[in-house]
Amino acid sequence: MTGVPGFVIRGWGVAVPDKVVTNDDLSVRLDTNDAWITERTGIRERRWGGTTSSLAVEAGQRALDHAGVSPQDIDLVILATTTPDAIVPGTATTVQDQLGIPAGAFDMNAACSGFVYGLVTAAGMLAIGCHRVLLIGSDTLSRITDLDDRKMAVLVGDGAGAVVLEAVPGPGALRSWNLHADGSLRHLLYCDHGGYLVMDGQEIFRKAVRVVVDSAHQAVADAGLTFDDISLLVPHQANLRIIQAAAQRLHLTEDRLAVVIDRYGNTSSASIPLALVDAIDHGRVHDGDNLLLTGFGGGMTWASAVVRWGG
Ligand code: ACO
Repeated sequence: MTGVPGFVIRGWGVAVPDKVVTNDDLSVRLDTNDAWITERTGIRERRWGGTTSSLAVEAGQRALDHAGVSPQDIDLVILATTTPDAIVPGTATTVQDQLGIPAGAFDMNAACSGFVYGLVTAAGMLAIGCHRVLLIGSDTLSRITDLDDRKMAVLVGDGAGAVVLEAVPGPGALRSWNLHADGSLRHLLYCDHGGYLVMDGQEIFRKAVRVVVDSAHQAVADAGLTFDDISLLVPHQANLRIIQAAAQRLHLTEDRLAVVIDRYGNTSSASIPLALVDAIDHGRVHDGDNLLLTGFGGGMTWASAVVRWGG
C-alpha cells in the first residue's frame, strides 16, 4: 500500500448491555452448569440486550468523543454486523442518522470476521479519498439464538466496538491483511430468515484453529515480521480453547493474548474491538507495537491483519 494514504486509529469506544447473564443464571433455566460452560468455553458471563443499532450508536459516540472529532468530520460509516435491526434499511443508516453523521453508511456481513473485513474495506476507502471512517462492529446474537437451546445459548453475547480511522500519508497502521471465504462450509453455521443460529460446534472448532493459524502466518509473513515481533494477538472470541489452541501453534504465550470471552461470550463482529479496547484500557498496547487481529465465522469466512499501533 505504498503511494496511497494509510490510516491511524484515532479513537475507540465500546458498548455492552447492562444486563449481565452469568452461567449460574443460565443453569436455572437450562440443563447446564458453570463448570461445563467454563471448562468447555472459558465463558463466565455475557451481556444480553439492546439492539444492534443502539449498541453501535453508543460505541460510535464514544469513539468520536475519544478521537475528539465531530460527526461532520466523518466521511463514511461502515457497520460490520451479522444481526442487522432489519433486512431493509441497513442498520448503518440508523447509526449514521442517530450520530448525526452527514455521510454514506453501509452494513457489512462477514459474520465474526466482520471487523477485520471492515478494517480492510475502510483502508481501501481511505486510500481513495475518505479522510475519516467510523468503523463499528456491533452484534446482538442473543436475538437470533434459541435461548432454550443450551448448546447455543451459553455461547452468545451482545456488544459493540468502534474505531475512528484517519488517513495519513505513508503506510500507516495496516501492515498486512488477508481475507478468506469458503461458502461450501455454509452448513457449519447459519441462520435462515426468521430462524435461529444452527451450528456444528465441533467441526467449526477444528476448522477455526486451522484457518486462524494459516491466516495469521500469512499476515505476519506479509508484514515482513516474525511472531517474535507480535506483541498482542487480538482474536475473535468464540471459545477460549480455540484461542489457546491457535496461540499454542503460533508459539504465542498467554501474556500476548487479548481475551475478554470470560466476560462477554461470543459477540461476533464486536469481539475483536471489545478485546482490543480492553487491552488498551489495561495498558497492554504501546506505540510501535505490532498487533495481530484475526477473525473467523459463519460462511465460513476468516481474515487477519497486522496493525502497527500509534503514530
Ligand atoms: N451444558 C452442558 N452440557 C452441554 C452443553 C451445555 N451448555 N452443551 C452441550 N452439552 C453436552 C452435549 O450434549 C454433549 O453431551 P453428550 O456427550 O451426552 O452428547 C457434551 O456436552 C459434549 O458436547 P460437544 O458438542 O461435544 O462439546 P464440545 O466440547 O465440542 O463443546 C462447543 C461445544 C462449546 C460449542 C464447541 O464445540 C465450540 O466452541 N465450537 C466452536 C464454536 C464456534 O467457534 N463458533 C463459531 C463462531 S459462532 C458465531 O459465529 C455465531
